Amino acid sequence: MSKTRVGILTAGGDSPGLNAAIRGAGKAALDAGMEIVGIRDGFRGLAENLTIKLDKRSLAGILTVGGTVLGTGRDKPQAMEMNGRIRDMRSTIARNYRKLKLDALVCLGGGGTHKNVLRLIEAGLNIVTIPKTIDNDVVLTDTAIGFDTALDIATTAIDRLHSTAHSHHRIIIAEIMGHRAGWLALGAGIAGGADVILIPEIPYDVHNVAAAIRRRKQYGTNFSIVAVAEGALPMREAARVAAVVRHKKQAKNKTEKRLAKAELLQLQEAHAGHTLRLARQLEALTHLEARVTILGYVQRGGTPTSADRLLATRLGAAAVRLIQQGQFGMMVASRGDDTRAVPIADVAGRLKLVPPDHSWITSARSVGTCFGDHPGT
Ligand code: F6P
Repeated sequence: MSKTRVGILTAGGDSPGLNAAIRGAGKAALDAGMEIVGIRDGFRGLAENLTIKLDKRSLAGILTVGGTVLGTGRDKPQAMEMNGRIRDMRSTIARNYRKLKLDALVCLGGGGTHKNVLRLIEAGLNIVTIPKTIDNDVVLTDTAIGFDTALDIATTAIDRLHSTAHSHHRIIIAEIMGHRAGWLALGAGIAGGADVILIPEIPYDVHNVAAAIRRRKQYGTNFSIVAVAEGALPMREAARVAAVVRHKKQAKNKTEKRLAKAELLQLQEAHAGHTLRLARQLEALTHLEARVTILGYVQRGGTPTSADRLLATRLGAAAVRLIQQGQFGMMVASRGDDTRAVPIADVAGRLKLVPPDHSWITSARSVGTCFGDHPGT
């Protein structure tokens, strides 16, 4: 009988711990007597038949390495740029999957990847996914690979910003990744003791933020740290975005949907440079100097923490167990110390946002953190 052949790919933005998961799944598969093949650069590798040999040797020494040895990309199977044209590559991908004699595919990815995977399952591929994203916004899993490392990096950055903000009596705004979910800014803001935390889930009024900073000044503390998620929105902008999203959902025809989509894109573009504008507004309202530090891709780079290595190894090994049991169309979720198989159909198209009454938020409010949503006292 021929050996079970398993492909492994990483898709979407990279996150620390991907290599640990490739190693976890790869070694577990080899141990179970399977053959493994690495697919390069996400779904593009399947469309263009780009593979990498994976064996005991190539899996050795990658546990602690950042990024992904397989390469990654944000290509969508149903709309992929090929020689200057956008093409639906689903049937090519299904053909290549068969050509490679794959029995199953392990896809490591976040929200976008799960939507793409669902389309490939419909095209007949046997897929198991592993959640990874520094944004921590994949539903039905406690956490995703990369979040812990990014949290650590962002917290360390806030720690370092404290001493310089204090020395110069300045407001320092740390912009932290997270367009739609604020987990990273929230977690790092709390762990780093930020005075203000602004996240997409809680629209803010800059006057409330300025009032909190002025109150600190009155008590003799003339510096403040603001942790702001990329996607944090002032109340008026947030209301506009919510209205357009509603229009898009209720659109009666394709034209209405297209117009709503175009308006959302415009709003997104108008949001660029938001953190710098916030700094200027706070300077005017508090008469303190303000500086901005955009943490950017540093948050996604480098060595994964021990927690991410552990998570990646657990999820990688669990993905192979699902393949052995023939349980396809499933994501391996982390639940406490255990793992659980959840249908990819229940994950795709959903986002795990921070609930406004989440314990992290109530704890932060209890220690006096301002979220900019009310004037405070
Ligand atoms: O990985 C998720 C994320 O880090 C978001 O927080 C960020 O906005 C986005 O990816 C940007 O990534 P890229 O520039 O690679 O598309």
